[in-house]
Amino acid sequence: MEQGVTNLNRFLLEQQREFPGATGGFTILIESIGFASKIISREVNKAGIVNIIGRAQSTNVHGEDQQKLDVYADKKMIQALDHLGKLCAMASEENDDLILIPSKYPKGKYLAAFDPLDGSSNIDVNISIGTIFGIYKRKDDKEGDGCCEDFYQPGRDMVAAGYILYGSSTMMVYSAGNGVHGFTLDPSVGEYILSHPNMQMPDRGKIYSMNEANYNLWDDATKKYLSYIKNDVDTKYTSRYIGSLVADFHRNLLKGGIFIYPEDKNNPDGKLRLLYECAPLAFIAEQAGGRAVNGKEDILDVVPTGLHQREPLAIGSKYEVDLYMKFKRGEL
Ligand code: AHG
Ligand code: MN
Ligand code: MN
Repeated sequence: MEQGVTNLNRFLLEQQREFPGATGGFTILIESIGFASKIISREVNKAGIVNIIGRAQSTNVHGEDQQKLDVYADKKMIQALDHLGKLCAMASEENDDLILIPSKYPKGKYLAAFDPLDGSSNIDVNISIGTIFGIYKRKDDKEGDGCCEDFYQPGRDMVAAGYILYGSSTMMVYSAGNGVHGFTLDPSVGEYILSHPNMQMPDRGKIYSMNEANYNLWDDATKKYLSYIKNDVDTKYTSRYIGSLVADFHRNLLKGGIFIYPEDKNNPDGKLRLLYECAPLAFIAEQAGGRAVNGKEDILDVVPTGLHQREPLAIGSKYEVDLYMKFKRGEL
């Protein structure tokens, strides 16, 4: 390997050696997600030239149209993870029920939750999309198949979380609880190369990301917050909203700022899903020095009661999220 270049495999092995008891089970999980994401990335890149764009003529558990790439990405994630002998169950945005490990494969102690393709409304228009994942460890000593309840643990107990951004380049960003590390896919060799070690979110930022079309549906606290930051002449906030959570979050992670998808009159729990959207990104945010809340408490303290539970989300730089919480608590 070229001197000075650290690929994902090498990085994971070096991290693994820092934990003397580690068996490598976790390493192979992350590597396999990396592998699935390379296949998805290839498909995303050629989406315009093959006939893969368009509806798959099926709807998912949320009643949303599934795009062909949603189905494809879901399949690739499951195929990459089901045979490793490391998982006892999976949960995916695209599957109503828990995904069990086929009986021919051994089971392990980890659980994976994922949004195989995030931002799917942007596929047809060649705008950045992503994949989000969270890895949990089952709490009991049982062996064999996992169950839904195994996932019902606070995000703070996650073993690892991350996302892949299919942007102008493909990036994998992950944390196993010791900082956030970003890898950029070098398509010429098909390897993720460590490009962003120890990522830190700026304490403050100028970007706010909200779907303002929903303004009339928001509560007074959220309306007042938005008006407050718009009138902050010192900071001069600017608005950026892609509509792909991964892409909106990634930009704010690098530049600082806040993304909010609050509860509203039509969606009392917001839109985004706790297990495979909010919690993994909250884990990354906290590891990078940022914060994520649901307007009442930190996202990582929320204990899920359903695989597809929705949760309001405000995530980003600590200063911005703290300020939003002051409005939500009625202090401002
Ligand atoms: P998904 O494509 O996995 O269903 O997620 C879409 C999500 C998220 O990526 C984005 O932040 C949000 O939906 C945008 O919602 P609005 O179009 O309501 O703003
Ligand atoms: Mn999503
Ligand atoms: Mn999705």
